[in-house]
Order: sequence, then structure tokens, then C-alpha cells
Amino acid sequence: MRLARRADARAWHALQQAIYDEGKAFVGDGPASERALADRLQFAARHSATVWLAERSGELVGWCEAARLGAARLEHVAMLTVAVAEHSRRRGVGSALLAEAERWAREQRVRKLSLHVRAGNEAALALYRRAGFVVEGVERGHVRDGASFEDNVVMAKHLVAPEAPA
Ligand SMILES: CC(C)(COP(=O)(O)OP(=O)(O)OC[C@H]1O[C@@H](n2cnc3c(N)ncnc32)[C@H](O)[C@@H]1OP(=O)(O)O)[C@@H](O)C(=O)NCCC(=O)NCCS
Repeated sequence: MRLARRADARAWHALQQAIYDEGKAFVGDGPASERALADRLQFAARHSATVWLAERSGELVGWCEAARLGAARLEHVAMLTVAVAEHSRRRGVGSALLAEAERWAREQRVRKLSLHVRAGNEAALALYRRAGFVVEGVERGHVRDGASFEDNVVMAKHLVAPEAPA
């Protein structure tokens, strides 16, 4: 596991495309362009984002991105995205990436990890629950999937109790 850099954009784009092609996890129409991803990786720190890659035998098998919003009222929250290549699932890669993001978050004094997951994404829901995330809310009928609409689940892990002062 290591931090991503600009030169990883091509492999990251290909893995994102594969996950989009599965059609079950993400809600966007597709990954950003390779060039945009390269810029994102190059300027990640400036944009309050960090991307970790998981590799096996030199091949990219997963990633996790943590992004903090710049606003002072929200900068204690990091939004997470995690995904693992289909052939490398159920081997602890997702858990390891989440653990890495959590270690970083504690160092950065992030108080809350937050993420969104489609209600039908049982693998992700199970992964997050096992990592200590809890459901904070459900956005009903939020995600269009062909002719039907799916709920969007908002989950979080509080690293510091919400009522604790800054
Ligand atoms: C969700 C995802 C990241 C999980 O990654 P992973 O590397 O397979 O996860 P792990 O191997 O660390 O699994 C940890 C635990 O999560 C749970 N879990 C993971 N996949 C599961 C599945 N398909 N069904 C049930 N539980 C599952 C299990 O409790 C598992 O522990 P176990 O294997 O000892 O039983 C992966 O399935 C994925 O990339 N899916 C497509 C992208 C995606 O959905 N991203 C999340 C968007 S919100």
C-alpha cells in the first residue's frame, strides 16, 4: 500500500473504468479523464485529498481516496471512496485501505469519516459495518438504476464523539 502519484493516473483510470463498468457501485457516469486524474493526484494535498493505492505484484488492485472539504465548518470531516478490483476481493484489501485512511485521519485530527453507499451494495455495506461505520441516514430513491430507483445510505465513523468540543 502506498500513496498515489501523478504517474499512477493511467492505472487508476483503468481500475475506475472497470468498477464503473460493473455498474453496481458508483453513481457517476464514469471516471474523470486520465489527465484530470493525473492533475488530481499531483495537486491532491492542495485540494485536501489523499489517495492510497494497493498493489499486488506491481498491479493496481485497489484504492482509497479521502477528501476534506475546504470550508472551516466542515474540514473536520473526510469523505471516503474505496474500491478493489473484482479479482482481488475478499482478501482483506478493502479493509487494509480503510485502516490506512483511518490512521491518516487520526493523524490529521479528522473527527469524522463519512461515505455514501448504494443500498444494494451489500459487499460495501458489510465492509463498512465491520470497520465500525454506522448508518447515519438513508436518502430514499436517490439513485436511478435503469427504470428503478435505489436508496443511498449515508454512513460514518466518528473518531471523536460528536459532542466533544474542538
Ligand atoms: C466493497 C469492496 C471495496 C470490498 O473490498 P474487499 O477487499 O473485498 O473487502 P475485504 O476483503 O477487506 O472484506 C472485509 C469484510 O467485508 C465484508 N464483505 C466484503 N465483501 C463482501 C461480500 N461480497 N459479501 C458479504 N460481505 C462482504 C466481509 O465481512 C469481509 O470479511 P471476510 O472476507 O473475512 O468475511 C469491494 O467489494 C469493491 O471494490 N466493490 C466495488 C466498488 C465498491 O462498491 N466500492 C464502495 C463504493 S461505496
